[in-house]
Amino acid sequence: MAAFASALRVLPSPPAAVPRRLRSDALEPYISKRTVELHWGKHQQDYVDSLNKQLATSMFYGYTLEELIKEAYNNGNPLPEYNNAAQVWNHHFFWESMQPEGGGSPGQGVLQQIEKDFGSFTNFREEFIRSALSLLGSGWVWLVLKRKERKFSVVHTQNAISPLALGDINTSIPSINLCDDIPCPLLLQPLINLDLWEHAYYLDYKDDRRMYVTNFIDHLVSWDTVTLRMMRAEAFVNLGEPNIPVA
Ligand SMILES: [Fe+2]
Repeated sequence: MAAFASALRVLPSPPAAVPRRLRSDALEPYISKRTVELHWGKHQQDYVDSLNKQLATSMFYGYTLEELIKEAYNNGNPLPEYNNAAQVWNHHFFWESMQPEGGGSPGQGVLQQIEKDFGSFTNFREEFIRSALSLLGSGWVWLVLKRKERKFSVVHTQNAISPLALGDINTSIPSINLCDDIPCPLLLQPLINLDLWEHAYYLDYKDDRRMYVTNFIDHLVSWDTVTLRMMRAEAFVNLGEPNIPVA
């Protein structure tokens, strides 16, 4: 994974939105070179530039990106920096959620968790597509690990809303309210996201969001990345029974 800068004024510039190991045509035919160049080179760059401009005079100068997103969400009353910060983070996460010749079946650990929480991989796939299609307007669809319940869940968010800012996405309780003064764990750990803003797919799919989402899950999603993200999450959450060897 590309590392984010710890202080926002040193955000990657230009942003490492497309992993540097990938060329801008690496996701063809499912996401065209033209779309990547516009999406990464224009839309995401605009978020980075706007955020850095805001930070010249912002109280959030020097925050990590994750800290800024949580604080600027401001209990559901986002401060001006929130949208740009969340969109920078969301886009980084999005590009790294894909790989050429992606899709297919997840690795064993991720697959077991999906089967446990959705019943089958087919059920998960259908729920992911259904959630994406039921979002009105712009936003994101996510596979997240719900830390408290220790299970996977599919959710969608409007506009720039990120699970990083939310304690529980269903109740919209900001996590910063749940933790008082102690270090607050991330209650919703993102594992996959998919950009559902029209700029992400209109050039390639026009208004056929279903085809875009289906191609993402069948041909682009990087289960290798998901496995790594889940391994990191498992460092903090015990997802199942301990595997104790029998004597
Ligand atoms: Fe986007």
